[in-house]
Order: sequence, then C-alpha cells, then structure tokens
Amino acid sequence: MHHHSNLSALAGATVLVTGGAGLIGSRLTARLRDLGARPVALCTMNAYPEYVYADLFGVHAEDPDVVLGDIRDTTLVRKLVADSDYVIHAAALADVAACTREPLAAIDTNVAGTQNVLDAVAAADRVRRMVFVSSASVYGDGNPEETDSPELLTMRQLLESVHGRIPPQFHEFTRMRPKSVYGNTKAWGEEQAALVLGQVGTSYAIVRYFSVYGEPQTIKQGSHSWVVAWFAARAHLGLPLHLNGGGRQVRDMVHVDDIAEGTLRALVSPRAHTETVNIGTGVPTSVRKVAQLVQAHYPNTPLLETPLPAGDPLGGYAATRRMENILGWKPKVTITEGVARYVKWLQNTPAAAPDWLRREPTAA
Ligand SMILES: NC(=O)c1ccc[n+]([C@@H]2O[C@H](COP(=O)([O-])OP(=O)(O)OC[C@H]3O[C@@H](n4cnc5c(N)ncnc54)[C@H](O)[C@@H]3O)[C@@H](O)[C@H]2O)c1
Repeated sequence: MHHHSNLSALAGATVLVTGGAGLIGSRLTARLRDLGARPVALCTMNAYPEYVYADLFGVHAEDPDVVLGDIRDTTLVRKLVADSDYVIHAAALADVAACTREPLAAIDTNVAGTQNVLDAVAAADRVRRMVFVSSASVYGDGNPEETDSPELLTMRQLLESVHGRIPPQFHEFTRMRPKSVYGNTKAWGEEQAALVLGQVGTSYAIVRYFSVYGEPQTIKQGSHSWVVAWFAARAHLGLPLHLNGGGRQVRDMVHVDDIAEGTLRALVSPRAHTETVNIGTGVPTSVRKVAQLVQAHYPNTPLLETPLPAGDPLGGYAATRRMENILGWKPKVTITEGVARYVKWLQNTPAAAPDWLRREPTAA
C-alpha cells in the first residue's frame, strides 16, 4: 500500500505548539518551519537553565514565533488557539521524578493546564486537529495476561523460566495502568481530550512516546530518566556508568527526529482521527546495551552494577503495527546510530555535560 504523507497540508498553516521551546517542541517547530508552516511556540521556558534553551535548543524568548507564557493563562491560550489551524499540546511537567515529588505542580500543568487548552480548542472554529502528547508511562508495567493469547502466555512463561524476564510489548488497546503521578496525569489527559473534543466533534489524535533521546537532549538535575544523555554526559566527564539492577531494564529508545516526524504525521494523517498511537521503534533495548554503546565511544569508562531502586520500572517496548498502519511510517534512527550522533554532538557541545554532575550524590 502506498501512503502519501500529507505533510504538505502543513504548508502555510499556523500550528500552535505548547511547550514549543522544550526538547521535543523545539524539534517540532524546526521541522514545521522546514515544511513551510508557521509554528507558534507557547512555553514557560522554565524546565532548564536559560543557556540550555538559548545555546543548546537555539530558542530565545524574544524570537518572533515564541510566546513566553503559561498554558493555564485562559485569555492567552484562547487567543493563540483561535488563530491556529492545528494544535500540538506538548507542554507538561515532563520529569517523572519531579511529578512524584510535587504532585500538585504536576496536576496544575498536566491536568488543569491541559483542560485550559482543551476548552480553547473546543471553542475554536478554525482548529482542524489537536494532537495530545502522551507517554508510554500510561502502560506502567503492562499486563501480559491481557495482551497475550493463552498459547503465547504459556510460551512466555516457559521462556521466562529459562532466560529470565521477557520484556512485555505494549499495545494501544491494553488498559492503562500508570504507576506514577506523571503517568496518571497523561492517562487523564488522553481520556479528557477524547471526552471534550469528542463532544464537539473536533478532530484529535493521541501519541504515546516511548523513551525519547537524541541531541540536544540535556539532563535535568534531580532526574535520572534520560539514559543516553545521562550516560554520555557521565562518560564525557570520566565518571563510571551505574547499571541499576545490572541494567536489565529495557526501554524502547526513539530518536527525537523520529518523534517529531511521527507527531506531525499524526497531526495530518486522515486515518489518525480520534486514534491513539504508540511512537516507538518496536525494538527493546536494555539499559546495559545503552551503556555499552556509550562505552564504545569512551573506552576507559567503567560500568558499575548497583542495586535496582524501588519503583524503577523493568520496562517494555512498543507494538508498532497500529502506528505503521495509521501513520504509514516507522522510526528510522537505530540506537547505535543515535548514540553515535549524540556523542559526536556532545563532543562539540561540552556545555551539555554540566559540571554539577560531578557533585551529584551518585557521582562516584
Ligand atoms: N522526553 C521523553 O522521553 C518523553 C516521553 C514521553 C512523553 N514526553 C512528553 O513530551 C512532551 C515534551 O517533552 P520534552 O521531553 O520536550 O520535555 P521538556 O521539558 O524539554 O519540554 C516541555 C516544555 O514545556 C514547558 N512547560 C512546562 N509547564 C508549562 C506550562 N504550564 N505552560 C507552558 N509551558 C510549560 C517547559 O518549560 C518545557 O520547556 C511532554 O508532554 C512530555 O510529557 C516526553
């Protein structure tokens, strides 16, 4: 089957990207500009120190297509949405650990802020579609009993008894079972988008990102989520890489270029109307494998096994058939290529390996 990408529909269109100055938002707006669209980035720009936005992401509060503001500002959001042909809602308190530490802050932005965006989109005549950015965290640890056939389940149990844990594959039709405040806010956002926009008949699509990585991703203090950026920065500073629980956890590592492409396809593909799609590679990658790929570029880096912290999910990987059918596309960048690109960028961008890393409690 031949799939036309429909991305040409974006030429000349005004696209509001909430969180548009962040890692993913800045990649989305860059790609939108290449496609001849007019992106507008609404962002508080407070998830990183200023140099990260300016020097690493290339975004400045004074840029003509940046609006420094908050998604909870009803008047501002109404005005920006009313002037938009499409909306990508990517603003969030996006750090899992920060959401756990400050649940009310997570609810403020990810729940109340999302409601404000949804109200504005529902009230606007001009918006052709909204994409809600969700996360694989809505799956939690998954539920193999629900997704696997009895035959597959028996085979899985046999394989597990021989090889240890077999990572689960997360399908879009599985019941959501978030295991974090962050995941809970994303699950709510998905259901609320369907409820509010379904009622007024405004088109929407939901994208569930797996583990996003790639330049210019930069670690946040107090967060341990972003394993490629984290390991590369530590190796760059000559620090050992810690493998919690031996690094057996798996992630589905998706490059930020692929995230941007998949999101824009969800924005315009006719088949994505009211759909929920994973954006993942369909390849499980262990944390140990990521460490080894980084180590290949910094051969003197030791790998140290450390205990598995409570609550660190063992993880799973994306089922991709629905994404391939609906978007007519799948991610292109392999983890080996993506790590090589990241390391090359880091070597040219030393500010991305911040000095506070040496003073972290886990620095040794
Ligand atoms: N990075 C990942 O691995 C990943 C995985 C799954 C989903 N996501 C989702 O993708 C989206 C983008 O994530 P990212 O990795 O680019 O994170 P990011 O922190 O780089 O970008 C998010 C941006 O939103 C802004 N923001 C926060 N609260 C706001 C508010 N109230 N009003 C306006 N702007 C606000 C922040 O200042 C930040 O610049 C988020 O919704 C996140 O939950 C990310």
